[in-house]
Amino acid sequence: MTGGALAELHDRARELLDPVHYDYFAGGAGEETALAENERAFQRLALLPRVLRGQSRPATPVQLPGARASTPILVAPTAFHRLAHPDGELATARAAAAAGTVLVSGMAATVAIGEVAGAAREVDRNAAVWFQLYLQPDAKITECLVRRAEDAGCSALVVTVDSPVFGRHGRDHRHGFHDLPPGFAAENMRDLPGSPGVRDIEMCQEISWRYVEALRRMTGLPVLLKGILHPEDAKIAVDGGMAGLVVSNHGGRQLDVAPAAIDALPRVAEAVGGRIPVLVDGGIRRGSDVAIALALGATAVGVGRPVLWGLAAAGEAGVRQVLETLRDEYEHVRTLCGGVLAGDQVVSRC
Ligand code: FNR
Repeated sequence: MTGGALAELHDRARELLDPVHYDYFAGGAGEETALAENERAFQRLALLPRVLRGQSRPATPVQLPGARASTPILVAPTAFHRLAHPDGELATARAAAAAGTVLVSGMAATVAIGEVAGAAREVDRNAAVWFQLYLQPDAKITECLVRRAEDAGCSALVVTVDSPVFGRHGRDHRHGFHDLPPGFAAENMRDLPGSPGVRDIEMCQEISWRYVEALRRMTGLPVLLKGILHPEDAKIAVDGGMAGLVVSNHGGRQLDVAPAAIDALPRVAEAVGGRIPVLVDGGIRRGSDVAIALALGATAVGVGRPVLWGLAAAGEAGVRQVLETLRDEYEHVRTLCGGVLAGDQVVSRC
């Protein structure tokens, strides 16, 4: 993690975390090229401000599927929050709700989705929580997960489509870190049909658009696809009735030769042409990164690792600090840009 006001939280998290768990959170696939590029790509971009536009302080709410967020900065789904802090996803949910933003809670959460959503609603009864899932080879398992998300009051589903197989994470391999330690579990996978105990999350190489269509028939919830990088896939998703897309290379944890998410965003946004919201995640570390993403066509951004660093450093308060810092920086940059963020303002530094 480079520079920015959040660097101190990262350093504190690194001090506190078991080094094996730090590496699980921080690491990426292969030679970690995509991971590094996600951050580096923002450093190569600059914004041309517009001037004399007489804006008052901008309110920055965004309308999203099943959610009106007070800020365009969402919490991306990441696994195993109890490895970062004993309160785990409950702390993350409370902080996201306090910040007025959407928590995308992961299928690989260490607290079950019903409890996570309940914690968010204790803070704000209108808090929006989305559920991220990997489509399972057995449709009965997928359906059961969908019902759990519906019963929890989740207002959208985020299907991660960039993971037909697990990414190969060198740091985890070197540490021999393959399973959660005793006392921790992916709680959404507990007591599923035909699986007493906790079932493993399966990646499915056969996953196809047919699986996504079957999911749409299973539920009335809006469905977003996460992990879109190719503009043609974006068009298929729009035609298939998806409610939104997340441009993402999974924080550099899947295909290492994938481009930086921010570099893939403009072509996807162009292909979508404003028909559905386009989100982006990967490498967002400061408010100006949010501003650049919005200028390049994103409706909102997701933040992964910085939330984990805040959680590890100071639990709920740490996550709040991350979300508030990013929002404050973003609003400041936006004001300095004249209150507008458009593609013609983005220029290359090189
Ligand atoms: C992730 N990410 C992720 N994505 C997903 O769809 N399901 C998951 O279970 C996980 N798990 C996960 C664990 C950890 C430790 C990390 C760091 C990331 C990817 C995540 O949603 C997001 O795409 C990236 O984290 C965004 O990049 P930054 O913000 O971490 O740079």
